[in-house]
Amino acid sequence: MREEKVKKKVREGYAQIASNSSSCCGSTAADETGKSIGYTEEELQSVPEGANLGLGCGNPVALASLKEGDIVVDLGSGAGFDCFLAAKRVGEKGKVIGVDMTSEMVDKARQNARKGEYTNVEFRLGEIEHLPVADNTADAIISNCVVNLVPNKKKVFEEAFRILKPGGRLMVSDIVLLRELSEALKKRAPPESCIRGAIMKDKYIETIKEAGFQDVKIIEKVPYSEDVLRDPDAKVVVFNPEKNAEELKSLSELDEKTKEIAIEAMTASMSISVSATKPATKSSEA
Ligand SMILES: C[S@@+](CC[C@H](N)C(=O)[O-])C[C@H]1O[C@@H](n2cnc3c(N)ncnc32)[C@H](O)[C@@H]1O
Repeated sequence: MREEKVKKKVREGYAQIASNSSSCCGSTAADETGKSIGYTEEELQSVPEGANLGLGCGNPVALASLKEGDIVVDLGSGAGFDCFLAAKRVGEKGKVIGVDMTSEMVDKARQNARKGEYTNVEFRLGEIEHLPVADNTADAIISNCVVNLVPNKKKVFEEAFRILKPGGRLMVSDIVLLRELSEALKKRAPPESCIRGAIMKDKYIETIKEAGFQDVKIIEKVPYSEDVLRDPDAKVVVFNPEKNAEELKSLSELDEKTKEIAIEAMTASMSISVSATKPATKSSEA
């Protein structure tokens, strides 16, 4: 029951983001966020306007070493940003399937696909804990800042394992915790914020291994930048209960309590990119 409640909140939060993002004001901020997490200017310019909502926390496509002809599944595809980048890499012989549980996001992603005239991308409405994809279908799975939002992470990785072909690759970027969060932060952070549902880094890696994956490696770690804490004008993400949304504020604009919580959110978490493979043969599972 609690899980369903969290998911409802997450869905409502992202429905609102999808609906509000039609304004042009967000795109510069989204591009800035994109650059800070590793997307190139060329990648940012190559997708239809509105596909990048600035919601990722890494660049899994750059890391996923996708090949021409690959079938790729993006878990929690949002407005389609990573799917469109992946589509270019896999080419006409390949295919990209984006799965998202928020219908407003799926609608937006489909509109973006039409705008960009992509013929090798498909968006499916569904939950990543119950993937609408057949067994042993995908060469690669990517996901960007999504699993942290899902209460049952074990089920997500089991499903990822099920739909990958033997030898298939998993490449996720996500937020994990470096220490447990204070009760004050838990109270303030909404379920749709990336930190609220994040789990400890070691537990995250263990959950991927328990699903059957091998060669599980953290290939990139992006901790908070010390510069943010030194620069009063640097922007941090805070939750505004009046707007029921997160917004970017500079530290100097915040009252002491909010500042303390924003700093805790940054220092207690980290973005990581993890790679793993599904064993190629039965004997390699041993
Ligand atoms: C932080 S956004 C990331 C979107 C996209 N990956 C990106 O980088 O732009 C999280 C997305 O995951 C979706 N999502 C959250 N939980 C989900 C679940 N259990 N099943 C499917 N989609 C989910 C949300 O609807 C939202 O579109």
